[in-house]
Amino acid sequence: MKKVFIQVPATSANCGPGFDTLGLACNLYNEVSYEITDRKGFQLEVEGEGADYLKPFGRNLAFASFLRVWNAVTGGQRIGLKVKMLNRIPMSRGLGSSSSAIVAGLYAANALCDDYYTKDELLGIATEIEGHPDNVAPALYGGFTISYMEQEKAHSLRLLPAKPLKFIAVVPDSKLPTSLARQAIPKTVPHKDAVYNTSRASLLVGALLSGNYEYLGMALEDKLHQPYRAHLIPGLPDVFAAAKEAGAYNAIISGAGSTVMAYASPEADCERIAKAMVEVFAANNEHACYHILDLDTDGVKTVSYTTLTLPTSDLV
Ligand code: HSE
Repeated sequence: MKKVFIQVPATSANCGPGFDTLGLACNLYNEVSYEITDRKGFQLEVEGEGADYLKPFGRNLAFASFLRVWNAVTGGQRIGLKVKMLNRIPMSRGLGSSSSAIVAGLYAANALCDDYYTKDELLGIATEIEGHPDNVAPALYGGFTISYMEQEKAHSLRLLPAKPLKFIAVVPDSKLPTSLARQAIPKTVPHKDAVYNTSRASLLVGALLSGNYEYLGMALEDKLHQPYRAHLIPGLPDVFAAAKEAGAYNAIISGAGSTVMAYASPEADCERIAKAMVEVFAANNEHACYHILDLDTDGVKTVSYTTLTLPTSDLV
């Protein structure tokens, strides 16, 4: 086999109180084809996000992650590589675009190497590249994931919530580099804040597994990262308030931001929630768009060629 087509979901890390631990996958996808060519060197075609600046360099995550597996398995066999991407996941907005590139590259190379590594082994490699497991885990496994590091090695437990939930991702135009958002977090936090988050993260997992979603309002609260990042996202407390007032259980910073994600019942008026949040951003001079999403339960997978030929008008 010389060519493989990959679909990889957007992810939302932290889920409020689960900093660097919790994550979920949602049904917004990048699609990527990887083809080994006779012509040496890298070729790249991109539609959608990043089309104007992604380049076929070895340090581009799409190539670097592919080569990480390919070189390890083949002993560095030199190849030409053609990558085509249909990118729907916004970049530098807290929806896991870099994790999706890492996971797609690793998964594609692994598929072309007869599934040499298990998914759990790919999680380890992806975490080494990304630095933390909370986005790469749901991108690999789908669903809701609880990830942890043990002796430098990443592990993840995948769960499915008891009942459907809607995720309203409101994406500001302004990018927020993860490195900047991580710098905003202090090296130490008060013990009582750690206890606060332990209780909320535990409550969140319990609420999701039991279907007792009336706890989500409390369970999605956080004191470990959101208060320190609030100044980086215009109008954040008011965006949270608008989401709740319009009927969401609560809202959180998705990953490191800048996206704000509301969690809502399928019976809620999700359009109304989204528009209320967009309006608050607008009042703070920030244009935003939104996606009303469901949980993705599969994670990264191979797909047929036809889905890669969507016309540009179908792009988000
Ligand atoms: N847990 C990470 C953070 C997710 O909040 O910085 C972003 O990659």
